[in-house]
Amino acid sequence: MQRYTASVSFDRRLAGHDIEGSLAHASMLAATGIIGADDLVAIESGLRQISEEIDRGEFAWSLELEDVHLNIEKRLTSLVGDAGKRLHTARSRNDQVATDIRLYLRASIDDIIGLVQAMQKALLDLAEKHADTVMPGFTHLQVAQPIVFGHHLMAYFEMLKRDVERLADCRKRVNLLPLGAAALAGTSYPIDREMVAKLLGFDGVCGNSMDAVSDRDFAIEFCAAGALIMTHLSRLSEELILWMNPSFGFIDLADRFCTGSSIMPQKKNPDVPELVRGKTGRINGHLVALLTLMKGQPLAYNKDNQEDKEPLFDTVDTLTDTLRIYADMLAGIRVRKEAMRNAAMRGYATATDLADYLVKKGLPFREAHEIVARAVRFADSGHRDLGALELSELKNFSDLIDSDIFQILTLEGSASSRDHVGGTAPSQVTRAIRQAREWLSRNAPIAK
Ligand code: ARG
Repeated sequence: MQRYTASVSFDRRLAGHDIEGSLAHASMLAATGIIGADDLVAIESGLRQISEEIDRGEFAWSLELEDVHLNIEKRLTSLVGDAGKRLHTARSRNDQVATDIRLYLRASIDDIIGLVQAMQKALLDLAEKHADTVMPGFTHLQVAQPIVFGHHLMAYFEMLKRDVERLADCRKRVNLLPLGAAALAGTSYPIDREMVAKLLGFDGVCGNSMDAVSDRDFAIEFCAAGALIMTHLSRLSEELILWMNPSFGFIDLADRFCTGSSIMPQKKNPDVPELVRGKTGRINGHLVALLTLMKGQPLAYNKDNQEDKEPLFDTVDTLTDTLRIYADMLAGIRVRKEAMRNAAMRGYATATDLADYLVKKGLPFREAHEIVARAVRFADSGHRDLGALELSELKNFSDLIDSDIFQILTLEGSASSRDHVGGTAPSQVTRAIRQAREWLSRNAPIAK
């Protein structure tokens, strides 16, 4: 029963925030005259000592004392006597734990935003080097049109930008103070919630005591934002894995992110991207776990809520490790420009450009489409690209075709012609990178 109900094995990670919350609560109790000034002095010195004991790994955590809150309170009382017993006046573990999680999550969000932005910077550095590196763009994983590699990478920058915005938005709802709600109904002591909120850096107080102790929306929102981050990294991982397959041969990952096979000496396996893809499943699972945890709970606090911590902590840990390793991995990618270029050459990537060329000379698009389909079939029968056909051969498909077509049929000409905001023309990609750098410097990680 003790082992089943205890949470100290995992919620001890909240100890620093629990002490921070208790210090603010005690200051308020003294300022409002609910406890004496001498009690506050004793509580502060006791909590300081406990904090040092925990930092040094000397704190004796006890399963019998159930959770982080009771462990610390008990030790405080053994250190400073009655003052320690007064700390829990006008408070309950219900509003205490909700406060601790919010403090923990606020700090975690700030760290994770910084890590997402570090990864964005790694993407920008790589994109900058490849603002004119031609590769095939795919739809249905079939060669579609030529793009530049920098443009492909910048698509992920956009995804991560939305992720940062989601985290920053979630932080607003995390950063409200539950303390004062006590067990569920509030307290009859003359407390000052605004003072506690200010001391702890909260933007305000939770508006309803019953909601304050039972709400875990903010944790669900965070896990949803985290699941999307992992989903984005999982998609990129899938691409890295494909690109590293020798049939593509577009990139090479640094050896330290790969392993060999125990029986096949030729293998270099992209373990890190595969694990990121795999761990996305577990993060999605945490989101579903929290939603399911909440869906049947009547107001107000229920012990069910103790189950919020492990999914939340694991989401933070997995995101932290994944983002950190990913930024490093991106910086070490070797790009095989020739393989990218050859793949684009092989797939008739400029077929749309030939159709557009005919349309600009007056042909209706559907007709142009049909002509190009025939030209592609002809080229394919001789295993040649469109640009390798003779002018006389091309003219067999339409006499609108002239020698100026060869400029259009080059991969570079095709990519450069998509010259508008959001397009793959190298000049547009360079501009997008510059704007992205400006966005990053405007939204620099919150200094702590
Ligand atoms: N360990 C508990 C949790 O994580 C703390 C709150 C317990 N409150 C209670 N009334 N039993 O939710």
